[in-house]
Amino acid sequence: MQAKVVVVGSLNMDLIVRTPRLPVGGETLAGHGFSTAPGGKGANQAVAAARLGAQVAMIGCVGDDAYGAELRAGLIAEGIDCRAVMSATGVPTGIAAILVDDAGQNAIIIAAGGNAELTPARLTAHDALLQAADIVIAQLEVPLPTVEATLYRAHELGRTVILNPAPATGPLPAHWYGLVDYLIPNESEAALLTGIQVDSPQSALLAAQRLMERGARRVLITLGSQGVLYADSTRHLHLPVDPVVAVDTTAAGDTFVGGFAAALAAGQSLEAAIGLGQQAAALAVTRPGAQPSIPYRHELPA
Ligand code: RIB
Ligand code: NA
Repeated sequence: MQAKVVVVGSLNMDLIVRTPRLPVGGETLAGHGFSTAPGGKGANQAVAAARLGAQVAMIGCVGDDAYGAELRAGLIAEGIDCRAVMSATGVPTGIAAILVDDAGQNAIIIAAGGNAELTPARLTAHDALLQAADIVIAQLEVPLPTVEATLYRAHELGRTVILNPAPATGPLPAHWYGLVDYLIPNESEAALLTGIQVDSPQSALLAAQRLMERGARRVLITLGSQGVLYADSTRHLHLPVDPVVAVDTTAAGDTFVGGFAAALAAGQSLEAAIGLGQQAAALAVTRPGAQPSIPYRHELPA
């Protein structure tokens, strides 16, 4: 039987402007063009896990507007169980205003909208999904009490718990570390969580060790073009990636997380799961948009 991945997290419509470079404060720049694409860290991770072979359900909340309907329809088209994607009345669906420059770097502002309505009570109403899960994934784009309730409940049920602490705004509550099986920050999130400047596999290892001192069991730090650093109490690995020409890095981290989870759900080894996540993320950065850029399994090498 196919293992189940449940994602508790955000859905956003991404409003994307391509720009020659990111503006500085007070500056007006002419952009190259505007587009919209489905995004949100939770939904992106759900799509990545589904496209890479997992059976996926999403717990989230949109507003009662056209964006919400479009986001939900997009997930359903990927075969994702959306019975727990709720619709809150009187609020807009979450959006992300995204600037992408000619080098493929981005700057993002999110307006939570419906995501802020994913309360612990709304999560608890869908406890059956957590009970039926094998792997539960959370990020930080929904209210932190809901993230905490997710981690507690999934851990209590003995599920494999993945936390992608993104976007990080400060330290994680100390008691969260012991609830998480795989903590997956990127460089800047790892730096924010530890105070260590993370810009190399060496500094990532130091940060991972700091996170393990706080109780994290397994840490994966995504390092963009420098690959991934994995560490647990018995070993550490640095898995490099082949260079790619980045067009848009939006959702690269989400693609990694979803791909990693899908491979774990399929019973693959840790190294194979990291490898699948990396291959998928490497392809995603060569294509524009969040969900539109996430690859299907058949697009990746066997
Ligand atoms: O991680 C990328 C995502 O972050 C985007 O899709 C955007 O919606 C923001 O939430
Ligand atoms: Na992309």
